[in-house]
Amino acid sequence: MKMNGITALSSLACITALSISAGAQTSGGAPHLQKQGAATQLVVDGKPYLAFAGELTGDAATSLPMMEPIWPKIVSGNLNTVLVAMSWAQFEPEEGKFNYVQLDGVIAKARENNLHLIFLWFGSWKNGTSSYAPYWVKKDYVRFPRIQIGEGRTVSISGPIELLSTLGDATRDADAAAFGAFMRHVKEVDGVQHTVLMMQVENEVGVLRDSRDRSPAANRAFAGQVPAELMSYLQSHKDALIPEFREVWAANGFKASGTWEEVFGPGKPANIEIPIQTQSPPMSADEHEISWRRLHWASDEIFMAWNYARFVEKVAQAGKAAYDIPMYVNAWLQQPNHAWPGTYPCGGPLPQVHDIWRAGAPDVDILAPDLYLPYFDEVCERFSRNGNPLFIPETGTNASNVIMAVGKYNAIGFSPFGVDGGRPMPADLGAAYQMLSQMSPMILAHQGTGTMTAVRMVQGEPPKQVSLGNYTLTFRYTGRIRGLPPQERGGVVAPSYGPATPSGEPLPPLEAGAVLISTGPDEYYFGGGGMRVDFAPTTPGPSNVGLGDVQEGRFVEGKWEVTRQLAGDDDAQGEILVLHPGTILRVTLYRYP
Ligand code: DGJ
Repeated sequence: MKMNGITALSSLACITALSISAGAQTSGGAPHLQKQGAATQLVVDGKPYLAFAGELTGDAATSLPMMEPIWPKIVSGNLNTVLVAMSWAQFEPEEGKFNYVQLDGVIAKARENNLHLIFLWFGSWKNGTSSYAPYWVKKDYVRFPRIQIGEGRTVSISGPIELLSTLGDATRDADAAAFGAFMRHVKEVDGVQHTVLMMQVENEVGVLRDSRDRSPAANRAFAGQVPAELMSYLQSHKDALIPEFREVWAANGFKASGTWEEVFGPGKPANIEIPIQTQSPPMSADEHEISWRRLHWASDEIFMAWNYARFVEKVAQAGKAAYDIPMYVNAWLQQPNHAWPGTYPCGGPLPQVHDIWRAGAPDVDILAPDLYLPYFDEVCERFSRNGNPLFIPETGTNASNVIMAVGKYNAIGFSPFGVDGGRPMPADLGAAYQMLSQMSPMILAHQGTGTMTAVRMVQGEPPKQVSLGNYTLTFRYTGRIRGLPPQERGGVVAPSYGPATPSGEPLPPLEAGAVLISTGPDEYYFGGGGMRVDFAPTTPGPSNVGLGDVQEGRFVEGKWEVTRQLAGDDDAQGEILVLHPGTILRVTLYRYP
């Protein structure tokens, strides 16, 4: 059905590659990941790179003409990278015949607009289901088996279940072959210019409506032994395992072998209904808070995570064999009202099963959260454990979140979902992207070194203390300046956070955010604001602190340029430092008795 609406491709016997000029020669090899202290960075053409990105809706790139109006919107939103889905169905409409039209067309337009790309491979799964698999796969349910679920399917989701099974070797091999062909072509047309930075393999994999696959093949595997390679990975990483996973293994006596249920405890009986809401069965507020941070029916989730990881590993391996650039998988998260497996896709790369994914899919470089939850910082922390690089492929447009992600959690990228939709890009996110892009070289130089962090505050929150460099900084919320024209801010030329909702919708809760970087014994750079800062020394010497020199400015190609010198009324006669959203300050302190 979908195929007919895309293009007239289905009638083509053979679809040849567009020829794309490889463009200017660049240095530094293919995009890759590189450690810097505690951070992992994405290196593009020899330099670390921060992706201020946005993801297009799933079908956006199925029609190049329909994409035309999207490009100017992306450029005006100050994005430097776009995440674009490519479907297996459209890429391989007939088995073994590949269509490069969308891939080439999107690369060409990205280059024209000076943008980088991250492609999402919608192969066997997208949001747990298999709607982007080609028609020739969908109709052959013998060669490409589906999962089966038990009687206890979730009540609120009805209808048949059309999910390809992880245990179909033919599915895995066909998906891997297609992805390999896709990556071969990316290398051919982009192996020099590096417009394409990374690949997402599949999208939000996992079993929906039950906690595991209950097909005969899956039941046999579930009744069998936990594979020796998984057990040996767990033994050798025993002391560094993710705590919520380790607890489950510990509770079952750290067994070194056995069936899934012997090693990890009971799974869900087939006929038990999965609670959709944490209020059903009724539970206390405390349980409500805890339930979405726990493994339920642990064996089922661990078993599925292993099987998805093994499948995805083969696909990623085939892609890397053709063109070795970073690859990640994304997770639909467990959440307060969807805390039990099956209400979120079970077996995806959720934090509680990161160790299983690491063991099963070593070619997957990043396990990434699709982060729409209000617990943004907590999820960033859970996805930064054991050296997992933080990349947020899907999220909302909260400007403070991108400041926190790159400033505190060393993220390599941040990408609100649906940036091609009808809504304008929020002005405050655009201003934050512009500010952070200017600061990128400095932020990248400080990631992972302990000399940078970020702070956010909401209206009404008590003062917050942060120790960085030789001082403890106390932040107080002062408010967010929305849409004040420069003359009302005393001629400040730096971008303010403009009106977030030009259409007149209610404003989101007021929130302030700033990145802070310690660049010398008495020197800081601040990007962003809506807060004031007081300084207290943490090293011996006089205890009072004055604002010696306060500069407002900008970075031009990485070099600091002062746009205004602040003193007198602008820093309370040298006593109070106020940070304004979208503004960069360089501050030098002095101490006196
Ligand atoms: C998460 C999925 O990964 C996206 O493709 C899209 O379906 C969004 N949800 C919609 O909110």
